[in-house]
Amino acid sequence: SKIAVLMGGPSSERDVSLSTGRGCAEALRGEGYRVFEVDAGADLPERLAELRPDIVFNALHGRWGEDGCVQGLLEWLRLPYTHSGVLASATAMDKTRSKDIFRAHGLPVVDSIIVSRDAAQAAHAMTPPYVVKPNAEGSSVGIYIVHEGANGPPKLADTMPAEVMVETYAPGRELTCTVLGDEALTVTEILTDGWYDYEAKYAEGGSAHVLPADLPAEIFTACQDYALRAHRALGCRSISRTDFRWDESRGLDGLILLETNTQPGMTPTSLSPEQAQHAGLTFGQLCVRLVEDASC
Ligand code: DAL
Ligand code: MG
Repeated sequence: SKIAVLMGGPSSERDVSLSTGRGCAEALRGEGYRVFEVDAGADLPERLAELRPDIVFNALHGRWGEDGCVQGLLEWLRLPYTHSGVLASATAMDKTRSKDIFRAHGLPVVDSIIVSRDAAQAAHAMTPPYVVKPNAEGSSVGIYIVHEGANGPPKLADTMPAEVMVETYAPGRELTCTVLGDEALTVTEILTDGWYDYEAKYAEGGSAHVLPADLPAEIFTACQDYALRAHRALGCRSISRTDFRWDESRGLDGLILLETNTQPGMTPTSLSPEQAQHAGLTFGQLCVRLVEDASC
């Protein structure tokens, strides 16, 4: 069948999406599909009307592509698409709302408040260490860490949204677990010299991934259990990846769920394809799985 791979788009994660999209398009061609690569601009509805694909493979990241917007368009056009639907996408992308849902399901998250950009640069209710971040971005775009003993609040870039999230800093080891279908895959630990920022995420050799992560069995299975419960609580479809921090000095209480990504990266340095590979799925087979799960 004929597949349109949506990629790029106007979000701050455009380049990541182009990398995800090109890789998935190539893999799907290798699996025998007719594949069209579509850079998702303002003319997307016309492009799709022209192409008339059987299935849309959503390789977008960030705003408009990961937050329910493009999913709504595809529902309207009655085009089956991969990954999560409108509601799960919109909820997962909104860090405050997804945390409300996680809390209601007994999943461990840290406290946060939403304040204006001005308030975040003045005095507010949080004491360091804390993190200032956009309420709806991915790939660690626009994250400010205010360390203990820091000299007052951070100076934020003008590109930050008018309202930002201020969140208690969750210290510890960086862990992540992908859910594929109804199954949690293995747990990966990400080792970096410093913060797992945009650079570390996508530069070759920017971080080291250890999988299966070397963890006490209790923590390993808790990650898998929380990832699956988060996936279900949000109503995700097909695939999601949930990120954690684990403060080992606090045992199981030190395991914090940071967020669930409904459009996990599929770049050459990304985590979910490695976890799928560990479960015996090649990159091509993973892409086919996502296509088979498409619906609208
Ligand atoms: N936001 C990036 C693409 C990820 O979560 O993998
Ligand atoms: Mg993310």
